[in-house]
Amino acid sequence: MPGKIVGFEQWRAGEYFQDYYGTQVDADELAAIRFQVQFLRQAARRFDRAIEYGSGPTLMRALAAAPAVERLDMADWLPGNLDRLRQWAEDGPQADNWGRFARYALECEGIAAPGDEAVCDREGRTRKMLGELLWTDARRPHPLGEARNRSYDLLISGFCVDCLTESREEWRACLSNVLSLVRLGGAAIVFALRDCAGYRVADQWFPAARVTRQMLTSALTECGLDPGSLQVAECDLPSHAHQGYEGILMASGWMAP
Ligand SMILES: C[S@@+](CC[C@H](N)C(=O)[O-])C[C@H]1O[C@@H](n2cnc3c(N)ncnc32)[C@H](O)[C@@H]1O
Repeated sequence: MPGKIVGFEQWRAGEYFQDYYGTQVDADELAAIRFQVQFLRQAARRFDRAIEYGSGPTLMRALAAAPAVERLDMADWLPGNLDRLRQWAEDGPQADNWGRFARYALECEGIAAPGDEAVCDREGRTRKMLGELLWTDARRPHPLGEARNRSYDLLISGFCVDCLTESREEWRACLSNVLSLVRLGGAAIVFALRDCAGYRVADQWFPAARVTRQMLTSALTECGLDPGSLQVAECDLPSHAHQGYEGILMASGWMAP
């Protein structure tokens, strides 16, 4: 069971980076990045307009998307997270180091032992690809305003809508709001903590909606993903038990035209 759950006003982006991304590519991201790369390679096309929804202060999904995407907007609820992304986008002196994630994405793409130059190239390509950094609220029916409804060819969202509430009803409504950003015929990649009631960041616990594989599968279908295209995989992760979860769910699919 998690400890006392706190709200996002308690969130500290630097602490989150350090805890989850500061020392190595942990088991959950080894699986999630590989899943994303495999989907994008199988899709074998370029996506003109993509969005990473609920990115937090993180860059690993952007780094792994770069070869397949023309322009990637990134959205989050916390301005402090967006500030951190901005520092990295501008290659500022305080920017977090995402080099090991770029390297791992390259390995997933089949490059054996990528060197520093390849990592640097990938970071540069990702910076060029980045579009707008947007404030958003998944609880709104149009999380980025009506004009962006059904406007993205690809949406990537990792551990966001399942990780902002303890209510399954609210999770389901937020998922539907967020999926409405994907144009018909577009693609979505969604990651969720499996059956998790709360996750730990340093000494604080944040809410999670106890999403199961079955719930995610039916919710994504109801949100319009073509059931024939939907792939939902899970990965057991006992090494993450101290953070409140022992598995993740990884889903991808195409929005029915
Ligand atoms: C567990 S973090 C995930 C961050 C990142 N995607 C990752 O995989 O590490 C959950 C994210 O949800 C964001 N969030 C919280 N409430 C939100 C809301 N109402 N709308 C959109 N995002 C929200 C938080 O700011 C945080 O960045």
